[in-house]
Amino acid sequence: MNELMVICVIGIAVAMETKKLKLNLSDLKAKNEQLTLEKRDLQNQTEDLRTNMTKLTAEKMFFENQTKEMTTCPKDWIQFQESCYFFYNLNSPWKTWDQSRQFCQSNKSDLVVISSLEEQTFIKSKIKYYYDTLHGYWIGLQKVNNIWIWVDGSPDTLGYLNNPGSSDNFTCIIQNATLTQSWIQNRNGFLNRFICEIKALIF
Ligand SMILES: *[C@@H]1O[C@H](CO)[C@@H](O)[C@H](O)[C@H]1NC(C)=O
Ligand SMILES: *[C@@H]1O[C@H](CO)[C@@H](O)[C@H](O)[C@H]1NC(C)=O
Ligand SMILES: *[C@@H]1O[C@H](CO)[C@@H](O)[C@H](O)[C@H]1NC(C)=O
Ligand SMILES: *[C@@H]1O[C@H](CO)[C@@H](O)[C@H](O)[C@H]1NC(C)=O
Ligand SMILES: *[C@@H]1O[C@H](CO)[C@@H](O)[C@H](O)[C@H]1NC(C)=O
Ligand SMILES: *[C@@H]1O[C@H](CO)[C@@H](O)[C@H](O)[C@H]1NC(C)=O
Ligand SMILES: *[C@@H]1O[C@H](CO)[C@@H](O)[C@H](O)[C@H]1NC(C)=O
Repeated sequence: MNELMVICVIGIAVAMETKKLKLNLSDLKAKNEQLTLEKRDLQNQTEDLRTNMTKLTAEKMFFENQTKEMTTCPKDWIQFQESCYFFYNLNSPWKTWDQSRQFCQSNKSDLVVISSLEEQTFIKSKIKYYYDTLHGYWIGLQKVNNIWIWVDGSPDTLGYLNNPGSSDNFTCIIQNATLTQSWIQNRNGFLNRFICEIKALIF
């Protein structure tokens, strides 16, 4: 009798343990299934991200291409930042300030407006010394009612004048002077080379 009871108890214990294991097994199976789904989901998302990235890269390239196209300068014009510049380098005929401005305007531009040290540095690096120290390149800065005004209507904030005491009302930039003192005052009738500028984004 005792033996039978022992066997019985063992049998019950084994049955209980087996049930637990079965429960654990189905639990694990469920967990495994869930993980598989999550993995697939992550793979889908990765795929999604990769697709999105490819799309964005293509879009970025497209806009870069377009920007590049927009900032392409006409033949013989040089680009710096968002503008194109024409340096009139002929040995003749040199022109008055008014004639120079007319030339620029007939080519959909105007005399250069210098509005930063970077732009001044660029322009100074491109101009050449010619004839004598007084000759340079007309720029779009003139004195109106005793105030220095650029041709786009903006007041000058840089003041890179070389001979600020002069009574002359027009300015050209010369090569043989320090970077921040290279604008020479001259009268309109003085004949010079000149520089035109156009905003590249207008194209
Ligand atoms: C069932 O799994 C739990 C953890 O999920 C564990 O603690 C327990 O020992 C397992 N039971 C058996 C009988 O293996
Ligand atoms: C993964 O994407 C496929 C088709 O793109 C879809 O059939 C499946 O249901 C998605 N799986 C998940 C977990 O979102
Ligand atoms: C991919 O882009 C679409 C819209 O273009 C957006 O709805 C989706 O959430 C993005 N997918 C990811 C994973 O960022
Ligand atoms: C951008 O330009 C490059 C080279 O000019 C070209 O290979 C590419 O297809 C262009 N991409 C787009 C989106 O226009
Ligand atoms: C100015 O415009 C005329 C007429 O369109 C053109 O022939 C000439 O090449 C242009 N000059 C410059 C410097 O672009
Ligand atoms: C400069 O312009 C003023 C008037 O704004 C004029 O009185 C003066 O004579 C001009 N200077 C020269 C050198 O022409
Ligand atoms: C340039 O200027 C310096 C002094 O500032 C002078 O010594 C030199 O002769 C000038 N050069 C020319 C070509 O005039």
